Amino acid sequence: MNPDALPFSPAAERNKQPILERLLARLPARGSALEIASGPGQHVVWFAKNMPGWRWQPTENDPALIAAVDARTRLAGLQTQVQPARPLDVMRLPWQLDTPELGFDAIFCANLLHIAPWAACAGLMHGAAQCLAPGGALITYGPFLEHNVPTSPGNQAFDASLRASQSAWGLRQLDDVAQTAQAAGLRLSERHAMPANNLLLVWTREPAPT
Ligand SMILES: C[S@@+](CC[C@H](N)C(=O)[O-])C[C@H]1O[C@@H](n2cnc3c(N)ncnc32)[C@H](O)[C@@H]1O
Repeated sequence: MNPDALPFSPAAERNKQPILERLLARLPARGSALEIASGPGQHVVWFAKNMPGWRWQPTENDPALIAAVDARTRLAGLQTQVQPARPLDVMRLPWQLDTPELGFDAIFCANLLHIAPWAACAGLMHGAAQCLAPGGALITYGPFLEHNVPTSPGNQAFDASLRASQSAWGLRQLDDVAQTAQAAGLRLSERHAMPANNLLLVWTREPAPT
């Protein structure tokens, strides 16, 4: 397999190291992670290579990208750490992952919510709440709109271009995402500003009502 023939995301290549540094700072040395919307697989392979104590389960909605994730995993020789990618449409609840894993210590999802209909947000939050182990966290990465933070010109232009290409797409208001997460039992517990006006957000389970 020629690596140059695989789908490739220049943005993932730029952001994989800053994201990895946040994951290393936030997560313990060992664990199991589910990746949602793995895309071409550059993230999962980079994280697996640099987080040797973690096992990864990539997922994707696009069959062509599933093949790309698996090819990248094989090329990197990471098959013991990265399971074959599974098909997953976050909007089809409950998620049918068909994996032996019962609960994941972390779920990672980058750049999905603005490139999918709004219903994908509820799908992501409810599905993640279903698949997280006790004490686990959903970690999302991407651009968002925030009421009290001026939107950068770059994100304004990106939002306009997304909406022009697909009316159901576009940057999401973080407050709306947080409200949807809360309905699924997840709370925004960390917000980290990342390069290029992106946010890395950590979502944890609300304590059960007493
Ligand atoms: C912009 S790409 C991000 C890929 C990768 N996470 C990254 O950051 O490089 C968005 C990804 O979301 C996937 N996607 C779109 N709708 C989806 C859905 N309903 N369920 C799961 N994945 C979806 C697409 O196939 C695509 O790979």
